[in-house]
Amino acid sequence: MKATTEQEYPHSEQGIVPLLPKTETKPEKREMVDTKDHKYRELDKILDHYRGEKGELIRVLHSAQKIFGYLPPEVQAYVALKMDIPVSEVNGVVTFYTLFVTEPKGKHTISVCMGTACYVKGAREVMDKLKDELKLDARETSADGMFTLRSTRCLGACGMAPVMTVDEEVHGKLNAGDLTGILKIYQEQDAGEEHDQVH
Ligand code: FES
Repeated sequence: MKATTEQEYPHSEQGIVPLLPKTETKPEKREMVDTKDHKYRELDKILDHYRGEKGELIRVLHSAQKIFGYLPPEVQAYVALKMDIPVSEVNGVVTFYTLFVTEPKGKHTISVCMGTACYVKGAREVMDKLKDELKLDARETSADGMFTLRSTRCLGACGMAPVMTVDEEVHGKLNAGDLTGILKIYQEQDAGEEHDQVH
């Protein structure tokens, strides 16, 4: 038999109920769970909205990425389950389109142009050097969460090839030797901001 309020809280007077039941989760923990649940509830609405439409999976994934910030395996599995399709199908779409990301993005996004003009002027070497500097293998984001590295198509600045952008800033006529210095600018900028916040 379910306990009544009087049985659970024998000292409470009639009409006065404690704000939290004895077994209630601590508020901080509840908030964390709620945030995640809230995101899944939002995703459920998106799934309902696009159900049966043409290009449903891409639309759903696009919205899911907006909600979660990226598409980790558990979100991909949830979409597959709800759409009643194999996870491999969802994963195939996620890995095919460069607009989808499977890891949280770093504070700065570096996009290296792999268009023809940049490629022939050494974009591959630029990319390899950045991977080396940031210690990235299969990952896109550095372990300190500072940089996400991606390749991109022509940025429309072929005269400055090879080109990369860091967030909104364009860096052109690059050679592998420039890159340590460029990364340092952002690292020092961030360190300065942190120092200002502390003092
Ligand atoms: S090919 Fe790189 S900017 Fe055009």
